Amino acid sequence: MKLINGFSRLNKNEKYDWIAQELGLKNGELKKFLEMFSIKDSTIQNTFDSFSENTIGNFHLPFGVVPNMIINKSVYTLPMVIEESSVVAAVGHTAKFWSSRGGFKAQVISTIKVGHIHFMWKGESHRLKSFFKKVECLLKIELVPFTRSMDKRGGGIVSIALIDRTKDEPNYYQIEMKFETCDAMGANFINTVLEETSKILQTKALEDSGLIGHEKNIDVIMCILSNYTPECLVRSSVECPISELGQIDNFEFSRRFIQAVKIAEIDISRATTHNKGIMNGIDAICLATGNDFRAIESCLHTYACRTGTYRSLTQAKIQDETLFFEITIPLSLGTVGGLTKLHPMAKFSLDLLGRPSSQELMQIVASVGLAQNFAALRALITTGIQKGHMKMHLSNILDSHNIDAVQKESAIEYFSNKMVSVSAVRDFIQSLSLNLPS
Ligand code: MEV
Repeated sequence: MKLINGFSRLNKNEKYDWIAQELGLKNGELKKFLEMFSIKDSTIQNTFDSFSENTIGNFHLPFGVVPNMIINKSVYTLPMVIEESSVVAAVGHTAKFWSSRGGFKAQVISTIKVGHIHFMWKGESHRLKSFFKKVECLLKIELVPFTRSMDKRGGGIVSIALIDRTKDEPNYYQIEMKFETCDAMGANFINTVLEETSKILQTKALEDSGLIGHEKNIDVIMCILSNYTPECLVRSSVECPISELGQIDNFEFSRRFIQAVKIAEIDISRATTHNKGIMNGIDAICLATGNDFRAIESCLHTYACRTGTYRSLTQAKIQDETLFFEITIPLSLGTVGGLTKLHPMAKFSLDLLGRPSSQELMQIVASVGLAQNFAALRALITTGIQKGHMKMHLSNILDSHNIDAVQKESAIEYFSNKMVSVSAVRDFIQSLSLNLPS
């Protein structure tokens, strides 16, 4: 590929032409290919195009649903967007399994979001502290034009604090602001308030008679929300008498289950994969509901490290002959704003969930993470993970061949007790078409 200037200023057709030329494709070939994946309704396609920049097409992912998920006695049908086979099926099995064992019980513990003004300031720190004490009360008043509508919805600024970080870095301080953002994820609100606060602080410092010379200079490095929200916590749990677990050997199953979670507590290699399985579920429903799954991922992995060692996000125990399994995680989610209204499928997902509040969505998402982890652990400690994966893998390989339903059926039967691989499936299909004994 060549370097190009002004690519973003080209219209869509010009972008196609440039890429096609670079790829050595014939005129119109690329356009034809990309248009296979575009939406007929040009208004909707334009909406999709506007979500990002330099858009030349759509990248489709499957939208699956999982019925029978009981959380706090309400029944949900979950929307999940994911490309990995087995994830939706796994949550589906777990949802059904727990639906006859009391379902998931979830509760929101806290809903506080946080952001920081990171700044440098030279001088005796007690002089900055007394300046901050003087202006602290004024800040909230001067910020009213930016917080009014959030205040009306029951949210707004919860606290403002000056934090001395000079032990970590010379002259480094933070203004830490905590927020309640109701049903919004709140990133825009938080970042706006932080930036306005920094301007007010800089002006007040210049006007303050108690600060002299370089003390008047609040050198703001950046203003940004933190995606780490340990005070925006939700818990979901399931529990069941061991005797009712419905396994071949319930006690052996419970022993192995507890042991598997313990391994993810003490071994970071296993913890990473264990938590990846949890994220399979969480990302899928966050994506479906138009939430920022990258923010959620980064927050959860930081939270998994909060003791200094990366650990499992779920915990399990046996008490009074009952298996308890739970997840407690920070989740900063929105059910208004952002993509939630703009993306037709995100809007549909929220409709499917009964238009939940952000707190209800936190409970649903945490429960999906727990369900996914239960499914993975159940498979890992019993049949192994490959059995289910291979079934889906076989189906995907078969779909890439031009075979009819009867041939597909006989392949599924043939491979029910054999190793699946691309070449083994190809050989089997060839033997079918040649009428050879397989
Ligand atoms: C695969 O995407 C996820 C698992 O590896 C999770 C786990 O091992 O717990 C199955």
